[in-house]
Amino acid sequence: MTTEQSRQALHLLPMPVALIGARDGDKHNITTVAWINQCSWTPLQVMVSIAPQRYIHDMIAKSREFMVTIMGEGEEETVFFCGTKSGRGVDKVKELDISTRPGEVIAVPRIKDALANLECKLVQSLVSGDHTIFIGEVVAADYCKDRRPLVLRQGELTTL
Ligand SMILES: Cc1cc2nc3c(=O)[nH]c(=O)nc-3n(C[C@H](O)[C@H](O)[C@H](O)COP(=O)(O)O)c2cc1C
Repeated sequence: MTTEQSRQALHLLPMPVALIGARDGDKHNITTVAWINQCSWTPLQVMVSIAPQRYIHDMIAKSREFMVTIMGEGEEETVFFCGTKSGRGVDKVKELDISTRPGEVIAVPRIKDALANLECKLVQSLVSGDHTIFIGEVVAADYCKDRRPLVLRQGELTTL
């Protein structure tokens, strides 16, 4: 199988869509990810794969905590903006006028009215290929069920 066939095959895999939030001092950055999943029940853990060149990468490595905000239908523009602009040059939270409130356990803010916010403490990082897998233990969360979660499939944002 050629590399292109392998890439196209992987495109069929539906992936959840989330924003990862992290803080460095007063700076709060949010970045779109699709390579994210639950990876343990006890303790409750999630893994997220982030390229080293992303601004959020070193923010997580340094602060050892991150917020996962699960994105729902109607939030496609935010997903696109946070997945195409870097926090190095743009304050994405300010630019999008995103309302936040403090995290309960970690210093990273939650996003108001989100489908779900998961507060995570970094327990392990693993360099894998051209990305770093950050594994976080979920230490607090909130959720509502008023929208369907977004998924990325064949390069398109959709819902299941
Ligand atoms: C739908 C979508 C999914 C993405 N998934 C990931 C991902 O899983 N891991 C990653 O490192 N970058 C991913 N990106 C790219 C980053 O979100 C993008 O490079 C972003 O601008 C980085 O911002 P930062 O420099 O502020 O961290 C994705 C982008 C989009 C639009």
